[in-house]
Parts: sequence; C-alpha cells; structure tokens
Amino acid sequence: MNQKTDKIKEEIKCFRIKTRNDLETFRIKFLGKKKGIITILIKELKKISIHKRKIYGKIINELKKEAQNKIKIFQSKNEIQNEKIPKFDPTIPGKSIEIGSRHPLSIIKNRIIDILTKIGFLYEDGPEIENDWHNFTALNIPISHPSRDMQDTFFLCKNPDILLRTHTSSVQIRYMKKHRPPFRVMSIGKVYRNETISSRSNFMFHQAEGFYIDKQVSFYDLKQTIHYLVTSLFGEEKIRFRPSYFPFTEPSVEVDIYCNNEWIEIMGCGMIDPQVLKNVNIDSEIYSGFAFGLGIERLSLIIYKMKDIRIYFDNDIRFLKQFKSEF
Ligand code: DAH
Repeated sequence: MNQKTDKIKEEIKCFRIKTRNDLETFRIKFLGKKKGIITILIKELKKISIHKRKIYGKIINELKKEAQNKIKIFQSKNEIQNEKIPKFDPTIPGKSIEIGSRHPLSIIKNRIIDILTKIGFLYEDGPEIENDWHNFTALNIPISHPSRDMQDTFFLCKNPDILLRTHTSSVQIRYMKKHRPPFRVMSIGKVYRNETISSRSNFMFHQAEGFYIDKQVSFYDLKQTIHYLVTSLFGEEKIRFRPSYFPFTEPSVEVDIYCNNEWIEIMGCGMIDPQVLKNVNIDSEIYSGFAFGLGIERLSLIIYKMKDIRIYFDNDIRFLKQFKSEF
C-alpha cells in the first residue's frame, strides 16, 4: 500500500496542469466520483481492518489534500490572470473615440441649405437617372438645340431616352409638374457630363439649384436673393451680373465674384422662360419666377483656395482630416 500511495503522490506532483482541460483531466483521474484513483482507494478502506484503516486513512487523506491543493493553486493563478483582463462594464462612461470629418462638398452643401432655408426655400431631391424630356426638352432645349452639345452625357444604349442628368435644373420640371405656385425650392446633387477628367472638370460633379415662382417675382428679387446667397457664402464680396444665355431663362445672367484680383464666374441664373412654365401647365400670364444654378466643386475650390478638383474624389484621408473643425 505504501508503495502504491507513494507512486500516486509522485504522479500528482508530476502532473502538468496548463489549461482548464488539463485541470479537468487531473480532477477526473484522481478525484472523479466513480473511477478517480483516490476515490477508489477511499472506497477500498471500508474493506480493511479498523487498525489499518486508521493508518491508511491518514495517508490517503493527505493524497486527497495534495490533489485538491494542486487544483486550488491552478484556479487561484488563473483568477489572477482573469483579473488582468478588465471585465466589460457598460456603466462606465465611454472613452471619446476619434470622430471623422465631413467631406468639403458636404460642408458646402449644408451651408447652402442653411442659407437658403433661412429665406424660405424648401429642399427637394431629384433622380440622377433622368429622361430626355425632364433634362432637356421641358427646359426649352429641343433635340437639335446647340446647347445640348455642351451638356453631352451618358445615355442608355438600349434606350437613348434615358440618361444621367446633366444639371439639377431637371428638378425644376419635376417639382413644377407636381406643385402649384407659390414655392421656393432648392436641390443639390450629382450631375454627369461627357468630360475628360482634369484639374477643372470631371464626368461627375455637384450642382445646387434654386427656383422661386410667385405672382410678381421680378429680376430685382433675383438680384437680392443672389446677393444674399453670395455674401453669406463668401462674406462681403464684389459681385457682377453679366448678361448670358440659358435656354430656360430669359433674361439670363452669369454671376462673377471679384476674388484675388480677378473676376471668377460662380453661377448662372435668370428669369424662368415663360415657355418652361407653359411646359408644366403653369399660367405664365399670372406667374413668373427666377432660377439659379451653381457648381459645388467650383465654389469649394474658391472657398478653400484649392486648385484641383480631383482631390475631392481621391478619398485621401489626409486631405479629408483637414476639415474636422467644420460641419
Ligand atoms: N443648368 C445650368 C448649367 O448646368 C446652370 C443654371 C443656369 C441653372 C441658369 C439655372 C439657371 O437654374 O437659371 O449650366
């Protein structure tokens, strides 16, 4: 018996417990309820004489304690390790995480929305996939009109009536078809043109559109609104209205601002051509209105003093991070 218990003692000592699985194997091997080595020894004690039982009982009890001790040591070490991993506590206030920044084009878009909302303009979205009528014909640009050349875009081969809109002016038509004046509406979004990519042009860019129709809208209202929009965006700047041509406005003008010793064109606008109102069944004898459109990338180049619009679409995080302080 002595030899046997010595061997078991040695086995307990040498058993390497590194993982929880090892621990379970160890426990089952020595202390398992049915077949544990020590459990069996305890059961066998009943079979021997009282005298021997006392002696061996003591030895076996020590073996049992040794095995239990080994288990406790592993468990206490493991608890310490577990404590090192902080437990998740949802009640602790969160650490601040790095917040991203808005894209400069979104910053300008939001600014325009803020400025125009203050004078009663509502925001309306329009589809980027348009048909010929909304993008051209209803805006007084019939099929053979030369101004279509300047706004060549991407057509669907199977159905050339479907195209990617070349300007946000198509939103005018969509809105006027559904609503009766008076209304002041703005829309901002992507437009597409068949352009070679360069520092100044891209096949996709963003435009903002605004239009106002009521009973006695005059060119004076247009000038005041544009003056308010431009000074809100740029601060006090010199503004110039230059006669121009757009098929959907009459008269039409282009707006320039004086910036860094030169005049820079920033938008087109004019009084909505009565023919456009007729196309959407608005009585041009009763109602008149104005409209304006501007390119967001160009505005952004001026505001942030940048030279190349390609940087807007590179998604370079170092560029985007510089707009953190703005919303
Ligand atoms: N749609 C024009 C363009 O893309 C810009 C424009 C000019 C919009 C005059 C207007 C406007 O609403 O009145 O070049």
